[in-house]
Order: sequence, then structure tokens, then C-alpha cells
Amino acid sequence: GEAALRPGKPTSVWRYTGRLLAGDPASLQVHAGSSLGPTLRLRRGQRVRIELLNELPEATTIHWHGLHVPDDMDGHPRHAVAPGQRYIYDFTVLNRAGTYWYHAHPHGRTGPQVYRGLAGLLLIDDDEESALDLPRGAYDLSLVLQDRSFDSDNQLVYPVSESAESSMHGRMQGGGMMGRGGMAGMMARMMGVLGDELLLNGRMPQRLEVRARPYRLRLVNASNTRTYKLAWSNGTPLAVIGTDGGLLDSPQAREYLMLAPAERAEVWVDFARWAPGAAPALESLEFDGAMTMGSGRLPDGSRFEVLRFAVVGSERAAPRQPPQRLTELPAARPAIAVNARRPKVFDLTMGMMVWGVDGRSFEMLQASPEETVKLGTHEIWEFRNEGRGAMMGMVMAHSMHIHGVQFRVIGRQVMDRFAAAYRTVSGGLVDGGWKDTVLVMPGERVQVLVGFSDYSGLFLYHCHMLEHEDSGLMRNYLVK
Ligand code: C2O
Ligand code: CU
Repeated sequence: GEAALRPGKPTSVWRYTGRLLAGDPASLQVHAGSSLGPTLRLRRGQRVRIELLNELPEATTIHWHGLHVPDDMDGHPRHAVAPGQRYIYDFTVLNRAGTYWYHAHPHGRTGPQVYRGLAGLLLIDDDEESALDLPRGAYDLSLVLQDRSFDSDNQLVYPVSESAESSMHGRMQGGGMMGRGGMAGMMARMMGVLGDELLLNGRMPQRLEVRARPYRLRLVNASNTRTYKLAWSNGTPLAVIGTDGGLLDSPQAREYLMLAPAERAEVWVDFARWAPGAAPALESLEFDGAMTMGSGRLPDGSRFEVLRFAVVGSERAAPRQPPQRLTELPAARPAIAVNARRPKVFDLTMGMMVWGVDGRSFEMLQASPEETVKLGTHEIWEFRNEGRGAMMGMVMAHSMHIHGVQFRVIGRQVMDRFAAAYRTVSGGLVDGGWKDTVLVMPGERVQVLVGFSDYSGLFLYHCHMLEHEDSGLMRNYLVK
């Protein structure tokens, strides 16, 4: 369909157009004029049935990012839905309250499909969170960040020709070499696609009017490759209250907040801090260690304004603080891992123009012995980003996501050579809560404690920089 993403001609997009057949009308909110799919608002414990009818010219699947669902409901590319076909996703919401999302996940085409618009928000509520005094309704705002490039005709530009990129193998056999963008397209296809404009909730950011009172901001990085370093323009610390898998135990003050692709964070803010008439902005600050190539107009790690607010109304109350006790979060206990003494190491590698884990790229149905885990156990996994196989010693950040679980980050170490760049982001990492995606900076090792419960089967783990994913930095893990 078409969406009014920016002034001028409508942009043609691929979009989820939802329709509610039964249930609470509030559970599906359509965003007119936006490229985002409808926001699904679900409750923990609720059974959901969602029918995908694929009206695209190519196969697709839907992945419920962050949700703990059976493997055949998870949108794995092996369950691709061909054009004109249907698939019913049927699952019970087991996750805690929090900010999740959904997006397309077909083999080798996740980047272009999400870029064209196939993504939406999925918010979960539960009784525990409902009992807390957090801003609701109009004061509970979701902000989905995506970067896009447009041509002079207002159409989206994805720097790889559509016909030539149908599969990685096609490309490797030469199919894509001559596509639009040529060598530059191939590099972008592998290194990542950055847009030179920011979209907010699937359209151009518009100044947002807010009242001088507390708000809950749900920040979602649904960009293909871009990482954000978010901060208030006047230096006010951000009060972070939640991460990927819901609320933290207590608010964490941060000068800035890193948000890698697919990560979410929730921030509590009282706009009474600013005088009526003030125009505070959320910005993305400069940082090092991102990708050094790509879009010239808005390089990764450069500074830009994300969203400007306008504080309206004349009431003036003393600024309030968020609730200091948000939830009871169990301590992460690495000792419960069956491999506590020998963490599994997953080396993020680069080979002949393909990414991989331990030198292996994605294979549809394969999981190695190291990628096989036992149902009902916990393991420690270590993602190592030390540039094995990298061209010209180039090491890029990655945003590692594990399907079907929420994990805890239990350790980070960085090599000396990368320490200076690391210090430009490390103050903005919020590792205390539940996570399903974690930023792994160049030269870094990140250890996570992950539990496998309820569902056996074949699930994915991968880099959520979608072009890395599409170029091989994705593998299965098998729960037996
Ligand atoms: Cu949001 Cu496999 O990804
Ligand atoms: Cu990556």
C-alpha cells in the first residue's frame, strides 16, 4: 500500500494491515498514514490467533520478537508462507509485561522486507505491572525509531536491486553483482543499510506536544542497522525503567542510553522538569566503533536530533520521581548453568563476503552439537566479536538476538585495542534486566545466561543488523 511518510507524494510500502475478528478492540490499533503495522496490545496469559495472509509477491513469515512461543509459531524461515498462502500463528502469551515487536523474517530477505515496512509493535500488559503507578493511556508513548533513505520521487531506497538478491546463493553465483548499486550495493548488503532520514512510528518525526507531567516512553530500535545513543538535549539524565523483557527492579539513571537494532528500553520522564513552552529534544549522540562505511549524510555514530517535544499547558508542578521499586527481579545466578565452568563460545566471524558464527553461515535446518541444548536447563553463552576473518582488520559492532527466550547479561570484557571506542558507549548499556538482544561492540566478549524451558525445537539466534543476518550471521539452536 501507500503511506504518507513525508511531505509530498505518498511512499509505496509493504505493510501489515490488521483486522480484528474477535476479542478486545483495544488489542489492535491501526496507525493511519504510517508504514508501521497495527500495534498489538496483549495480556499475559492470553491466547492469540493471528492469521497471516501473504499478499506480497514473495514469501514471508512473522516473528514475534522477544516472545516465548513454540518453534513453529516463531516465524522461522523454514515456515515461509508463499504468496497467496496463509499461516495461523496460535500461541499463549507467557511473557512479562513489556515492549516487544513483530517483523518479517524470510530467508535472506528480512532486511529488505522490514525496510519496506513489515514491522509493528507488540505491547504486553500483566497484573503486576498494572498495579504500579506508571503513566498510562495518552501518557504511555511508544517511539519506534527507523532510518530510511528516499529518492526524489519520495520512494524508499534500499541499496540492492530487488531481483538480484533473492538469495544469498544467487548473489554468490553472481546473480547480484550487477544489480543496482553494484559494488556499493553489495557492500551495503553485507555491512548494513543506513538511511539518511529518521522515521518515528513509521513516519517523519513531528514535534510532539506533551504536558508538564510524567510520561512513560517506550523506545524501540526497529532500524535495519543503525544504533542510537539517546540522551536529553539539556543533559538531564534518562531514567531507564525497562529493557527488552520488561521492567527493571528499580530505575537506572543514565547520561545516555545505547539502543542497538531490535533493542527496546523504557524511559520515565516528567516534563515538569522543563518550563511550559520549553522544547526538550531527544538526541542521538556521537560514538565510536560503529560501522565506518555507509550513508554519507547520516553516518552511524553521528549526532542528530531524534524527536523534539513541546511542553504545553500552564500548570507547573514540582517534577516527580519514578516509583523506586518497580518489580522483584531474580538475581542472575550463573552457577545454575549446566556449563557454568565452560561457557560456550560463539565467535562472530567474517569469511568470503559472508558473515558467520564460528565460520559457519546460516543453514536452514542445521544446528551443530554446540548449538544443541537440553530442555529445562540453563547455559552460559559467550558472543565474541574479535574480528576473526575480518577484512582489513575491520571489526563492526553486532546486535545479538536469541529467539524464544529472555536472557540475562552476566559479563562483558573488551580488548585493550578497542577500549577507547568502547568508552564512548559503555555508560549507556543497561544490562540489569531481561534481554533478548544485546549489543556486542568491536573487540568485546559478552556473556549471557539463558534458560530453555517449555518448548523444544529449532530456534534462531543471529545478529539483528538485518543485512548481517541476511548475509549469514544467523544460526539455529536446537532445544531437545
Ligand atoms: Cu527480531 Cu530473528 O528477529
Ligand atoms: Cu551484525
